[in-house]
Amino acid sequence: MTGSDGTGGTPSAGGTAGGSDIRPVATVDPHLEPSVRHQHRMEMIVAGSFAAAFVGTVGLAVVYWYGGQDQWEGAFLGLVMAGLGVGLTAWGKYLLPQGPFVQERETLSSPSAERVAYSASFERGVGEMRRRSFLGKLLGAVLGAFGVVALFPFIRSLGPQPKLALFTTSWRKGSRVVQADGTPVHYNDLEVGGYMTVFPSHDANSAISQTLLVRPSSSPFTTKPGRETWTPKGYVAYSKVCTHAGCPVSLYEEQTQQLLCPCHQSLFNILDGAMPVFGPAPRPLAQLPLYIDKKGYLRAQAGYDEPIGPGFWERGA
Ligand code: FES
Repeated sequence: MTGSDGTGGTPSAGGTAGGSDIRPVATVDPHLEPSVRHQHRMEMIVAGSFAAAFVGTVGLAVVYWYGGQDQWEGAFLGLVMAGLGVGLTAWGKYLLPQGPFVQERETLSSPSAERVAYSASFERGVGEMRRRSFLGKLLGAVLGAFGVVALFPFIRSLGPQPKLALFTTSWRKGSRVVQADGTPVHYNDLEVGGYMTVFPSHDANSAISQTLLVRPSSSPFTTKPGRETWTPKGYVAYSKVCTHAGCPVSLYEEQTQQLLCPCHQSLFNILDGAMPVFGPAPRPLAQLPLYIDKKGYLRAQAGYDEPIGPGFWERGA
């Protein structure tokens, strides 16, 4: 039988049982033909390439056999690689079918009997679920309650609420100024240019109440308007908790009258209310108002007048 495109053909194997739907099938598909017109010449080129690669392989073996020589080994190896590369590329590109290849697919729809059976079974299932709706509601309640309970560990892991802890320290009106070992600080304890870390007597070694006590002068001075009485006999006290990231501000430079935070090198001017003059700290250190009691010991007039340390969202300005 001859196909409609003029090529040779055979009867199709997919005809109907009665043989009335037999269609011609082409036996020569142009898509399966090599793309080059002079196939014999291309075969010779491929064969020549493989032969060159073979010669290179033999040459490589001989050079190795006689002790090896870098340049000849490179040349023969190059010949092998070039021969294989040219031969394989030409074979694949010119002597193998180039397509395009299209595979027809049958329709995948189910027979109508199956579709009827499926929809009947689906409706029966929906009817069953409706009849047992209380089970669905119960399941929803369980899952909802479980979802809420699953939040508990997350909420608990946030820890206790800070409440007012971020706004206050242990310093109170009349708090006695003491060293880490509890020794009260007398106004004669520091020479001009000296400094030490101090705490309130009822909470020695408290991290949030740690305070840097500095004596830059022998007489009172004013760090900010309204603070005229805060520096008796030249003592000034600032919170040690840095306003950048909370590191302890622990170094005093007498020459420049600055405090240095070693974490990111913020500098604070102690004669100007600990205003930051360098570094990432955004605010001054909180100042503690001091006074000297009748026996000559340093005490706090009150707590810090603002929250110490880094900013937090409820802090305000
Ligand atoms: S924590 Fe003090 S400068 Fe960063």
